Amino acid sequence: PQQNLAATPPMGWSSWNKFATDIDDRSIREIADALVSSGLRDAGYIYVNIDDGWQGTRAKDGSLQPNAKFPDMKALADYVHAKGLKLGIYTSPGPKSCAGFEGSYGHIQQDAKSFAQWGIDYLKYDLCSGEAFYNTADTVYGTYQEMGEALAAAGRPIVYSLCEYGRFDVGSWGRAVGGHLWRTTGDIEDSYAAMAKIGFDKNGIPNHTGPNGWNDPDMLEVGNGGMSADEYKTHFSLWALMAAPLILGNDVRKMSPQTLEILSNREVIAIDQDKAGTQGLPVKKSGSREIWTKKLADGSVAVGLFNRSATPQEIALNWQEIGLPVPAKLRDLWAHQDVTASAQYDVPAHGVILLRAWP
Ligand code: GLA
Repeated sequence: PQQNLAATPPMGWSSWNKFATDIDDRSIREIADALVSSGLRDAGYIYVNIDDGWQGTRAKDGSLQPNAKFPDMKALADYVHAKGLKLGIYTSPGPKSCAGFEGSYGHIQQDAKSFAQWGIDYLKYDLCSGEAFYNTADTVYGTYQEMGEALAAAGRPIVYSLCEYGRFDVGSWGRAVGGHLWRTTGDIEDSYAAMAKIGFDKNGIPNHTGPNGWNDPDMLEVGNGGMSADEYKTHFSLWALMAAPLILGNDVRKMSPQTLEILSNREVIAIDQDKAGTQGLPVKKSGSREIWTKKLADGSVAVGLFNRSATPQEIALNWQEIGLPVPAKLRDLWAHQDVTASAQYDVPAHGVILLRAWP
């Protein structure tokens, strides 16, 4: 397995959530440009991941070629690298990808070598039509292990993203096959209901997560238009508390100032990227009110007060009850200000107050 490529949860962008297969060389270059000009690269989002839809057919020697929309993958990688970014790609262990493009079945080593030669830095390996061949814990493990070994042998550091939707307890073996992150759920959608179902209720098992191996509750929908600003703050806060990979899913070439502000909130990013790599947990639930905490490397604690109801609510915070000392210093990470501890917080509909508390 390739060491230390994901000491903290990977951050970047992926084409899938916004564009599906409507992607090409030019739009990927524009996204790379926009990550730089918006400041998102400097906030930590360095992977530019091409998801499903780049694949063409195989050449006579069996090597997988990109389709006509991606005339030269190596040139694209060079372009992305020159911007201080890294390039990701996607394939499936089955004969076809989820969207029906050519998969890596029977060509795993050959494809891993092509990716390395092109200068790819990140691979999402999505089970899909492989389900017809790999449908038990052993066979799914086996095919993910085969690609993990092929990547390790391909001669280039490549972050390995496992995508089998959490069906075969991937968190317990993801590291063993060389994986750096693994999907724990089916696909996210750009709605509060879909996001909340994953974020509050379908997290991976916390003790699987840690440096170089992360539970992946799927990519971000922030900025895609299906949720309110408060709902997107909830989405981003939950992913940060969970130490989830932060893979943007919006069109970063055209973002509202509000979207950019959410995605580039460095105080919240710091919660996600904390070196301890601990996955936060709910410590109190009462009706539609939830309090989550995450212990951080410097001895401080992130505290999220979530209102899951569609109307504003007060949430009471009793430090003793959640097992923490009354903080000596307390900061509101969305308001960007130091605050004094309060017994009650007004939390907007579907919203969050995210605090960082130092003992
Ligand atoms: C699956 C994955 C998605 C995306 C699509 C592409 O549904 O879970 O994240 O990669 O395939 O077809």
